[in-house]
Amino acid sequence: MSNLAYEPSVDIADALQQDVAAMQALRPIPRISIQAFCETEGVAHPIERAGEDRRMAKAHLKVHMGGIATAIEFYQSAPTPNLIILESRAEPQDLLEQLGRLSEHCDPSSKVVVVGHYNDIGLYRELIRSGISEYVIAPISIIDVVSVVSSIFVDPEAEPIGRSIAFIGAKGGVGSSTMAHNLAWAMSSLFKSEVMVADLDLAFGTANINFDQDPAQGIAEAVFSPERIDEVYLDRLLAQCAEHLSLLAAPSTLDRVYDFDAEAFSHIIDTAQRSAPTLVLDVPHVWSGWSKNTLSKADEIVITATPELANLRNTKNLVDMLKKLRPNDAPPKLILNQTGIPKRPEISVQDFADPLGITPMAVVPFDPQLFGNAANNGRMLGEMDAKSPIVATLNEIAHVLTGRAELKTKKKAGLGNILEALRRGKK
Ligand SMILES: Nc1ncnc2c1ncn2[C@@H]1O[C@H](COP(=O)(O)OP(=O)(O)O)[C@@H](O)[C@H]1O
Ligand SMILES: [Mg+2]
Repeated sequence: MSNLAYEPSVDIADALQQDVAAMQALRPIPRISIQAFCETEGVAHPIERAGEDRRMAKAHLKVHMGGIATAIEFYQSAPTPNLIILESRAEPQDLLEQLGRLSEHCDPSSKVVVVGHYNDIGLYRELIRSGISEYVIAPISIIDVVSVVSSIFVDPEAEPIGRSIAFIGAKGGVGSSTMAHNLAWAMSSLFKSEVMVADLDLAFGTANINFDQDPAQGIAEAVFSPERIDEVYLDRLLAQCAEHLSLLAAPSTLDRVYDFDAEAFSHIIDTAQRSAPTLVLDVPHVWSGWSKNTLSKADEIVITATPELANLRNTKNLVDMLKKLRPNDAPPKLILNQTGIPKRPEISVQDFADPLGITPMAVVPFDPQLFGNAANNGRMLGEMDAKSPIVATLNEIAHVLTGRAELKTKKKAGLGNILEALRRGKK
C-alpha cells in the first residue's frame, strides 16, 4: 500500500532521468535556420525554450503565431528556411490540403515538421509519403523539439546538410576568390541561410582581407591537427563575418610550408558540411593531390576565367578532367570575369564558350573602381554599391548556385519564360 504513492514518483523521476540522458546524448544542432508557425501557446512555448538550449545555440530560430495560413502568406515574399515547424489543429484532410498550398511557396530543400493534434496513423503515413520529415503530436516538450531537429540534421545516418561549392580560377589573379567571397556573402544575406567559407590558400589566401577579419586561428589549426576536428572544435576556429556568414580563414603567412597529402582537407570539409547548409571552398590555382581531390568531391564547381587564350586552354583542360573525374555530375559552371578591359584584345564570349560546350553562368565586366574599392576597404561589392549591375549579376548567380533559379540562356528568355509560367499556372 505505502508503496503506491512512492512508485509513480520513481517512474516520473526515471522518465525525467531518461529524458535528460537522451538530451545529453544529442550533438549540437548545425547552423540552420528554423521558422515555426504556431496556433497555440502550448506548442509555441516549448519551441521557443528549445531555441535557448545550448545545443541549438548555432541555429537561428524564429517562432511566429498563426499556423499554416500565416506561413503561406509569409513565404510569398520571404525565402524559406532549412526547417519549417508548423502547428495545425486542422483535421487530416484539411491539413493535407493546406500543406499542398504551402508547398507551392517552399523551396524543395526546406524540411517541414508538422505538430498536429490528431493521433492518426493514416495521416502520419500520408504526411511522410508527401515529404514531411516528421509528424509530432501535441503536447510537445522542449526535448521533443530538440530531438526532432536533431534527428533530421544531426543523425549520423542523415545526409550531410551542407552543399559544397568549390571555386577555382583558370589562372591566378582572375578573380576566383573575389567571386567565391562575394557569392558566399550574397547567398548568406539574400537567403538568410548560413554559409561557411573555407580559404584553402593557406599561404596567400585573401578571405581574411576581403572580409576584414583578423582571426587568431583558422584552417591551419584544423589541417595540422585533424584528429581534433569535430563540430565543436571547428566552431572555435571560425570567424563571424556577417549574420549568416562564417569564415575558416587561412593564416596567409609563410612561417610554415604547406605540403599536404591528398586527403588533408577531407575531414574538415566533411565536418563543415555537417555544420552549415552551404560551404564555399576557395581553392587556389594549383593542381595537386588535395586540390584535385577537393574538386572531384565538391557538390558544385565554379571556374572563373578571363577571356584570353591561356585561360581558355586551362579551362578546357579543367572541364575535360572534371568530366572524367565526375562522369555522373553536371559540368562545372563558368564565370567569365574581367571582360572589356580597354585596349586588351580578348576572346569573345561565344568563341570562349564553344570549345568548352558550356554557356557561362555569368559574364562580369572589368570594373577596377568597384572591385578595387571593395578589396582595399575589406568590404563586399554589395556593401559598396548595392545598385551596381555587377551586384545584380552576382545575386542572380547566387540564385542559380542554390538551385533557386535555372541558368538563363539567351534563347529561353521572353516567350519561353511566359510559356513556362503558363504551364505552371495550369497545374
Ligand atoms: N571584374 C573585375 N574587375 C576588376 N577587378 C577585378 C575583377 N574581378 C576581380 N578583380 C580584382 O582582381 C584581383 C585578383 O582577384 P582574386 O579574387 O584574388 O583572384 P584569384 O583568386 O583568381 O587569384 C583582386 O584585386 C580583385 O579585386
Ligand atoms: Mg584566390
